[in-house]
Amino acid sequence: MESENILEAKQVSVAFRIAGKFQKAIYDIDLRLRRGEVLAIVGESGSGKSTFATAVMGLHNSKQTQITGSILLDGEEVIGKTGDSMASIRGSKVGMIFQNPLTALNPLMKIGQQIKEMLAVHDV
Ligand SMILES: Nc1ncnc2c1ncn2[C@@H]1O[C@H](COP(=O)(O)OP(=O)(O)OP(=O)(O)O)[C@@H](O)[C@H]1O
Ligand SMILES: [Mg+2]
Repeated sequence: MESENILEAKQVSVAFRIAGKFQKAIYDIDLRLRRGEVLAIVGESGSGKSTFATAVMGLHNSKQTQITGSILLDGEEVIGKTGDSMASIRGSKVGMIFQNPLTALNPLMKIGQQIKEMLAVHDV
């Protein structure tokens, strides 16, 4: 069943392990995006926009990152999801355009192959 809220974040905090200690980069994020709405998150460099978006995508390294709170994507909790269950949500319900192609793409592969891979995985 479709949820009224496409994205609902409650009390989301993300901490990175730095020199053996977890330090919070973002904390207590609450937001809601209803079906049909557009939402822009605006903030200065380093304020945590990508950290939040990466948590929504389930792409943080679980050993180096602690995420607390709740992130519902179309009613489904993504915090704690890993592997295949998260991969099936990524690309079908949520996508991300990364800022830096040098870190997000593999320079040893042609761009066409990398775009095709996502389409093939999701049977488009
Ligand atoms: N993997 C990581 N390990 C440790 N600290 C990190 C990591 N990723 C981001 N940070 C820190 O978290 C904070 C938020 O960074 P983030 O990249 O989310 O900011 P941003 O709002 O996306 O900035 P920009 O507008 O420059 O893209 C910064 O202090 C950054 O140094
Ligand atoms: Mg960013």
